Amino acid sequence: MAWFILLSILAVCFAGVLLFGAPYVPTLAPQVKAALRLAGLKPGDTLLELGCGDGRVLIAAAGQGINAVGYELNPLLFLVAWSRTRRYRGQIKVVWGNFWRQDWPPAEAVFTFLLARYMPKLDKKLMHYSPKPVKLVSCAFTIPNRKPDAEVSGVYLYTYR
Ligand SMILES: C[S@@+](CC[C@H](N)C(=O)[O-])C[C@H]1O[C@@H](n2cnc3c(N)ncnc32)[C@H](O)[C@@H]1O
Repeated sequence: MAWFILLSILAVCFAGVLLFGAPYVPTLAPQVKAALRLAGLKPGDTLLELGCGDGRVLIAAAGQGINAVGYELNPLLFLVAWSRTRRYRGQIKVVWGNFWRQDWPPAEAVFTFLLARYMPKLDKKLMHYSPKPVKLVSCAFTIPNRKPDAEVSGVYLYTYR
């Protein structure tokens, strides 16, 4: 019975997110490195991560002195990210919720690893986002009808001015 309840909770948390966005697939270390390189942030700049999973990108950013804000809808992953980033509490903020429904804080760069079908919506959101310029660093998926400024290891960089 306990196993059934546990499996049901896991199914609701992981499958429920599919109604609003991409499933959980962790970004691999080479892509995290490429993303931070492409973002080109300085210590004190802010990175916004839309769907922060277990918090690995936030932690890598904080390790370079970058402030980071991550949104995560899956409550279990939110708890994992929140507890893994505790030691960076002054630098990293993890928010539980649907990032499409939030007012995004000012940031110099946005990191995402979503799905192709969300990229046009993201493009529109970023066109109306301020401050500008803002960089978008997207793992695996491109923005339709926009030429990336650069690509490294399957990670794409765009600049919105
Ligand atoms: C492909 S995973 C990437 C995870 C993370 N960036 C990493 O590198 O480990 C996408 C993440 O976005 C989260 N997600 C999807 N749609 C979301 C939404 N609308 N609001 C908040 N989080 C969302 C998923 O739960 C998942 O953890």
